[in-house]
Amino acid sequence: TRTPVNVTVTGAAGQIGYSLLFRIASGQLLGQDTPVRLKLLEITPALKAAEGTAMELDDCAFPLLSGIDITDDPNVAFDGVNVALLVGARPRTKGMERGDLLEANGGIFKPQGEAINAHAADDVRVLVVGNPANTNALIAQQHAPDVPADRFTAMTRLDQNRAYTQLAKKLGVTVNDIKKLVIWGNHSATQYPDLFHAEVNGKNAAEAVNDQAWIENEFIPTVAKRGAAIIEARGASSAASAANAAIDHVHDWVNGTPEGQWISAGVVSDGSYGTPEGLITSFPVVAKDGRFEIVQGLEIDDFSRARIDASNAELAEERDAVRSLGLI
Ligand code: NAI
Repeated sequence: TRTPVNVTVTGAAGQIGYSLLFRIASGQLLGQDTPVRLKLLEITPALKAAEGTAMELDDCAFPLLSGIDITDDPNVAFDGVNVALLVGARPRTKGMERGDLLEANGGIFKPQGEAINAHAADDVRVLVVGNPANTNALIAQQHAPDVPADRFTAMTRLDQNRAYTQLAKKLGVTVNDIKKLVIWGNHSATQYPDLFHAEVNGKNAAEAVNDQAWIENEFIPTVAKRGAAIIEARGASSAASAANAAIDHVHDWVNGTPEGQWISAGVVSDGSYGTPEGLITSFPVVAKDGRFEIVQGLEIDDFSRARIDASNAELAEERDAVRSLGLI
């Protein structure tokens, strides 16, 4: 049997954690031939709840689950970690300014970046889910100078998955008929779900839709504001779909994307498409040999250009704000 892969989940006692952990332990993250050891990081008051979740994981008798560690110490949680899922974050509460939000999250993602730098395995891969995901990922990455920068990523896969279903419903097709539908920019209201490079049964998606007003006034806002719509309907934020997207992201990162398919991920910009270098922003990517590569050479029309630039400008502002707070 293979040696277990160490998977660390932060915020393990939270909503997303409750959906995510069972899927990791059942083999959906890394495959049916890969045993996993789970390391759960929580804040001290939530350790008991994390233990409760661990009891349920025990009660599933998952054949691939080789052990569970629970801790409130990042240095312990990230010791030997191969896959780190950074889910726990400080949510924005009423009356909180952006500076306060960034500062609170800096207090979480700076020490976690440092602990990853000091203790992670050489092949560590990090996915940040906790919001503001792109900037939290940047903070962690900046405090892990010994880890290759491309190992730090932020999740926009949920946005992508949302876009797939909205487009499929509009055209009366299934998600299987759609390819290359990706998100650019920040995981925020400024994100840009791009129909102009997407394909539906081999045809250009924007042409298949042939309704610019729908793209601008329905499709893009529906995808970008879906999180709020879920809260409104469910009385709680999206958790199972977020966990599902995290599984998709890491699964594809490790196993590769199928030929002819692109996915979305927030990755460190190399300056592609005029994006400020060093920002963690979402691009169309392919995964090959365990690495994400930004899809190159796409033509960007004026409509897409304005949206991509606006979302990246927002990210640059967040970066400048965390810089002026001394967080990076
Ligand atoms: P939740 O509030 O149910 O759980 C968060 C957990 O994180 C709590 O148990 C809390 O104790 C823990 N936590 C807080 N600080 C921590 C720290 N320093 N170390 C370890 N654990 C810590 O929230 P939920 O619903 O699970 O969401 C988690 C995050 O994911 C939120 O920031 C949310 O906005 C974000 N999210 C991101 C999405 C994306 O597409 N990127 C989609 C949906 C949610």
